[in-house]
Amino acid sequence: MELREEVAKRRTFAIISHPDAGKTTLTEKLLLYGGAIVTAGQVAARRRARAATSDWMELERERGISITSTVLQFPYDGHTMNLLDTPGHQDFGEDTYRTLLAADAAVMLIDAARGVEPQTKKLFAICRARRIPLFTFVNKMDRPSRDPLELLDELENVLGIGAYPMNWPLGNGETFRGVYDRASGALHTFERTEHGAKRAPVRTAAPTDPAIAALVDEHTYREFLDQLELLEGAGAGFDRAAMLRGDVTPVFFGSAVTNFGVELFLDAFVRMGPPPAPRVDAEKHVVEPTDERFSGFVFKIQANMDPRHRDRIAFLRVCSGKFERDMTVRNVRTGKDVRLTRAMKLFASDRESVEVAFAGDVVGLANPGVFAIGDTLAEGDHIRFEPIPAFEPEHFALVRSTDTASYKSFQKGIAQLREEGAVQVFYPYGQTRIEPILAAVGALQFEVVKYRLESEYNVKTVFQTLPYTTARRVRGESVGSATLGSSARLVEDWDGNALALFESAWSINLVQQWNPGLAFEPFGARDLAREVPA
Ligand code: G4P
Repeated sequence: MELREEVAKRRTFAIISHPDAGKTTLTEKLLLYGGAIVTAGQVAARRRARAATSDWMELERERGISITSTVLQFPYDGHTMNLLDTPGHQDFGEDTYRTLLAADAAVMLIDAARGVEPQTKKLFAICRARRIPLFTFVNKMDRPSRDPLELLDELENVLGIGAYPMNWPLGNGETFRGVYDRASGALHTFERTEHGAKRAPVRTAAPTDPAIAALVDEHTYREFLDQLELLEGAGAGFDRAAMLRGDVTPVFFGSAVTNFGVELFLDAFVRMGPPPAPRVDAEKHVVEPTDERFSGFVFKIQANMDPRHRDRIAFLRVCSGKFERDMTVRNVRTGKDVRLTRAMKLFASDRESVEVAFAGDVVGLANPGVFAIGDTLAEGDHIRFEPIPAFEPEHFALVRSTDTASYKSFQKGIAQLREEGAVQVFYPYGQTRIEPILAAVGALQFEVVKYRLESEYNVKTVFQTLPYTTARRVRGESVGSATLGSSARLVEDWDGNALALFESAWSINLVQQWNPGLAFEPFGARDLAREVPA
């Protein structure tokens, strides 16, 4: 019984948005309502504090992006919320993809003046591929905004998802006075509060109440009533089943910075959002979150998260059963049993040990190198979740350490960053492994790797960009004697599998003609994040 109740209480989600839409601000307000922080400004302050204490964060600060991600757990209205923080930059598509695999729902945050932006589309495509329920929060209504009907149209036409407004804004920018909650039929009025910790005052009244008309100029009021009428006239009510299938997104308007609309949103999210969903493993077994036997998978590994604790943390998403500290589970990939002694919850840079966790929760495991991304941990070996694919790399570089004395640290750094999935690592085929060839989805990944090798492993490196744009797995006999010409190169991955790197599609065709006995197969997952729906 305990298990069933605990699972039903979980809401595990991530916020997806284009940089600057207000993700940090909204995260902070969610924590504020959840009582996890007492005053607003703490998350941003922590972000700054971390930036000040760790050189590695310099990069994040300089670029104004959030590279690392954390899991925040907070209680709300009898529920346990798990917010998975996703990095905001497009070059980190893989990391975001892995994090979204661990989420049961996503909140799409949109800037009311900007609408759907490039990064919104990419992240949306990942959610769409998984068909996870999506909630939309249209932020910054306190600023001059686009016509809300036009924003809904954009969601439908650009993203191809049905948009159902749960509430409707009265005015925007200077004239913004609140939102009308369609379910309760009441207007929540907005009062400009200072950018701070206070909860926004909520007053309710029907939209036709003269007191509401008195809040705005006649034109704004008329437009508001007309639009509401139009929406109500559209007929169909909110279809929760369609939302759960990812076909319709409920839309909420608000202003995170002034706390407005956040509580309405959270209440609805808790009420309508999905509890942890069953997961299907590689053999198509359905793993129910309420199954007694514990299972979970590692979706992220991060070394040196905090300079005070120079260890590697593996983030485990619990999929079924109950996690208990010190329990012994099977790592299904290696077949070895592991005792989970050091399990923790992380809140920004603070950590706290975890005694129990349930499906939907994320546990950080201090990782002495025994876990890899995609590993299934379970009581028994009856379950094996699908491996998490790496994306198809498009950037390649040869890297060497400039100082032979630091070669050991260089190797360790490369091995650990590979394990984290920060970069893919290849070597010239069939040769002694000295100089790795790094492969990445986005070129910024190289800068991060270079920076981290220097700041965390004390190794200076030089990167030599290679002209290749595509990798293919090579299958067949006598791979080593393949004819590749000058526009391709044979390499092997960490596990010794042969791959060929190509400069262009044209060179793939040519090499294929020269080597009819070999197959050159697409390597890694297609970059879902780049696949923008029509
Ligand atoms: P991000 O994590 O998505 O990149 O965005 P972040 O929360 O850092 O917000 C980006 C900027 O937008 C911040 O302003 C923030 O205050 C502002 N913002 C967020 N939500 C709202 C809102 O509802 N209304 C308005 N008007 N602004 C909002 P900044 O000037 O970059 O930083 P700060 O000095 O205000 O912290």
